[in-house]
Formats: sequence, structure tokens, C-alpha cells
Amino acid sequence: MSKHIVGPDMTARGDGIIPLCVPEIRGKEWEYVKECLDSNWVSSVGPFVEVFERKVAELVGARYAVATDSGTAALHVAVLLAGIAADDEVLVSTLSFIAPANAVRYAGAWPVFVDAEPEYWQMDPEKAVDFLEKGCEWRRGALYNKVSGRRLKAILPVHVLGHPCDVDPILEAARKYDLAVIEDAAESHGARYKGRSVGHLGDIGCFSFNGNKIVTAGGGGVVVTDNEDWARKAKYLTTQAKDDPVEYVHHEIGYNYRLTNLQAALGCAQLEQLDAYMVEKRRIAARYREAFRELCGIDSMREAPWALSIFWLYTILVDESQYGMDSRVLLRRLGEAGIQARPLWQPLHLSKVHAGAQATDCSVAERLNRQALSLPSSVGLSAADQQRVIDVICNSAAGT
Ligand SMILES: Cc1ncc(COP(=O)(O)O)c(C=O)c1O
Repeated sequence: MSKHIVGPDMTARGDGIIPLCVPEIRGKEWEYVKECLDSNWVSSVGPFVEVFERKVAELVGARYAVATDSGTAALHVAVLLAGIAADDEVLVSTLSFIAPANAVRYAGAWPVFVDAEPEYWQMDPEKAVDFLEKGCEWRRGALYNKVSGRRLKAILPVHVLGHPCDVDPILEAARKYDLAVIEDAAESHGARYKGRSVGHLGDIGCFSFNGNKIVTAGGGGVVVTDNEDWARKAKYLTTQAKDDPVEYVHHEIGYNYRLTNLQAALGCAQLEQLDAYMVEKRRIAARYREAFRELCGIDSMREAPWALSIFWLYTILVDESQYGMDSRVLLRRLGEAGIQARPLWQPLHLSKVHAGAQATDCSVAERLNRQALSLPSSVGLSAADQQRVIDVICNSAAGT
């Protein structure tokens, strides 16, 4: 076995290994974190938390941003803010990391999974609207699922891989049926839909600042909204729902979802570099696209005419009949060459933990899951390392 073989959990650098997506520390990270250490503001109170929240609010153009300790926590809080409770239902993208579906379950509610569309791999608005129109009925001023009898409360589209969903038809249906729209923008900081920032298209937006995102706080998340009551409630819920902070009186179940000042300091320094990192991501994407343009059996991810994608993880589709091997064989080939790639997530309607949840026809997501591989996409990926990835993919093609 090659010493370069790369397992799916490989995140380390060094020894010639090219990781999938690792942080890029090239700004004021050291300075800001040192400021926390020097001032002793290292925990969940401190000036960087507020600055971080303000920067994210400015980035998306929202009135309020509330920091959390993860994107998953942000999604959980968003679900609670939207009034989603036990036995309600929420439409969720099936082609996604599992966090948004889990967040719905944390509240005792149920996801109904919606397929991806084949062009840009985002929640298919036609299938979402079709489900609302044909699979549900309007009763006593609310929308109910005809099969489960449960009430529909929200739509939760995920902007996957740095590309926005086609959100306008989703918003239109949500207004028609009085549903909240919670955007999962965990992977898409800086992406735009028809010129507007993702995370600020619906009622609530959620971001992740996990280490593999375009910018990181080491870990962390943010809820953004224009609704002042929701912003206040988000702060309340994420800080243990203290009704009297002196006497420690609580009237609701709260959570310790606070981001630390240390993490916020890192996040602030990273956000200052987001514009530059987006340029790098788009350059990486353009190089991959050009390299695979004429490679038979490899289809590259696209950018919609109405979108500005940040190409969080550059992803290709491998057509076995034309390319000569399937995506998982190519994955192993890349691993043997010391290159970390990754399939897309198991579509959530197939996940055992969400068995029993209803779904639209999800054949597109299933095909994408079989064919897709995400390639190294770190902001700091060098042209030479990227060429190594390209060479393995081009040299593995049928007939070479
Ligand atoms: C689409 C999506 N939603 C939510 C999350 C959860 O974020 P976190 O890891 O910060 O909890 C992630 C990734 O990590 C994600 O990719």
C-alpha cells in the first residue's frame, strides 16, 4: 500500500498530501487572538464576539447577527425561532450535510426531503412547490401534509457547495402558504443570488465557521435575521435562557451555544479576508473547469447565470461509461496519490436516522451521490498541487 494512501478522515497536511479543504491563516489571526490572551477575554464574553456579529450582519446586509458555537447550533436556534415544534414538518434539501435535518428533529419536528435539481444540484424549487401544491391541503388557515396529517411550517433550502439555490420560487410559495424560509448558508459565505447575499433571502439565515469552510473561527456559527424579536430571542436561547441573570431565574429551556471571544477573534480576522479568498476559490474553480473541459466522462460543477458561487468545494461528476471507472475507484486512485477527495453526502432521505421521513422523488440526488467527487479546494491550494490533482484525473481516463 502506498504511504500516500488517504483515508476519508484525512485532514493533515505535510508529506506531500493534498488535503480537501483546510484553513488559510494569512491575516490578523495571531494579532487578534493574542489580544484575547493578553486581555484575559478568552471565554464567551468579550469584545470580539460583538465585532464578529456585526461583521457577519454587514456581510449579508442583515440587521442582526447572533453568534453560536457551531452552524448546527445556529440551525437549531433558527428552527426554534421560526416556531417549529413537535410534529410540525419542514421541507429540507435531501442533498446536504445532515445538520439541517437533525436540527429539525432536535425540535421534535419532521423533515420532508426535496430532491436536487440537475443543473446546479440545489433544492429543486419545482419539486418543492409541487409537493406543497399537490401533497398538502389548506385547512383552518394552515397547510397540512395530506399523507402524514402534520402541519407544514417552513422550507429549509441549503445552498450547497458554495452555490445559491434558486430561491425566488421557494419564497413565493412560502408567502402563499405562510411558511418561514430558513436558509442554510453554512457553505456559502459571500455567495450571491441575483445580486443579493445568501443568508438574507428568506426569514433567517445560518452560517458555519467550521474549519473546512471558506473562512473559519476554528468552529462556530451565526444566525442572521432582520427580525429584532428573533435576534433577541436567539441571544436568549443561546445563553441558557436567563430571565434574571443575577438570580438565575429561567422560564424556558435554553442552551449553551455561545461562541468564545477567542473563536470570534479568529473569525474576525478571517472575515477580513473573505473577498480575497473568494477570488482564490473562483480561480481554483476556473483552473479545474478548463482542465476538464474536454475530458470525456467528467462533468464539472456550473454557475447559474443568476448566481455568484464561491465554489466552496469544487465538485465533478464521473460518468463511468465514458470515463472508464466510477467515482469511487477514482476516489481510491486519488487517495493512493496522496490526494484527498470526497463523495457528496448520502442523500438524507436514504439515511437510516431519517428513515420514515417523507420525500419527493429524489432520483437526481441519488445519481449525483453516485457520480460526484469533491476535489481539493483549499484557498491556499498551489497551482502545482492543483496540477497534481488534474494529472491524476486526466491520466486515469479511459484510453490513457
Ligand atoms: C450545509 C451545512 N449545514 C450545516 C453545517 C453544520 O455546521 P457546523 O459543522 O459548524 O455545525 C455544515 C457543515 O459543517 C454544512 O455543510
